[in-house]
Amino acid sequence: MQKKRIAIFASGTGSNAVNLIRFFREDAQVEVAFVLSNKAEAKVLSSAKELGVATLHFDNAQVADGNFLVQLCQEHQVDWVVLAGYLRLIPAELIQAFDRKMINLHPSLLPNYGGKGMHGRNVHEAVIANGESKSGITIHFVNEEFDKGEIIAQFHCKLTSEDTVESLEGKIRYLEQTYLPTVVRGAILNQ
Ligand code: GRF
Repeated sequence: MQKKRIAIFASGTGSNAVNLIRFFREDAQVEVAFVLSNKAEAKVLSSAKELGVATLHFDNAQVADGNFLVQLCQEHQVDWVVLAGYLRLIPAELIQAFDRKMINLHPSLLPNYGGKGMHGRNVHEAVIANGESKSGITIHFVNEEFDKGEIIAQFHCKLTSEDTVESLEGKIRYLEQTYLPTVVRGAILNQ
């Protein structure tokens, strides 16, 4: 059987992209086709390259072109797209082409702390400012409604009054590193 091929989209550091690359390196059924970033200088591109994965950079105008992205994914025989810290809007054409085959990682317990402007540190600052007793991560399918696609899995962490934005960030990273690869693999192989 042909391996299922994943395209990873990322804009920043890429700790999740790297974790996915390492996880799928030895997998018999799933492989990473390439890592795409809209930021030429993003650390994720150099890290992926070091791990021997193809990397692609396109500017913001190019990644806003849905037909271009659909064609790119077809050329690379991509079956699934995983958004791991990708900060650009996904064009409708790509969402339609990867209906229930595009997964996003969000650093909160959606529907809480989702939507416009709610990414990365902004999420953690809002969670701490509101004195929440828990937070977590959401792994979900991507549809046309921002941060509202069907939830595949959520994982929680507890918070106390001692927690800071930094400590919350650490807890979220731990959940992401622990669970994202296996949840992605499960979603792909269950379909
Ligand atoms: C992660 O917290 C992810 O949940 C969010 O952006 C962050 C990306 O981190 N969507 P990294 O680039 O994978 O290190």
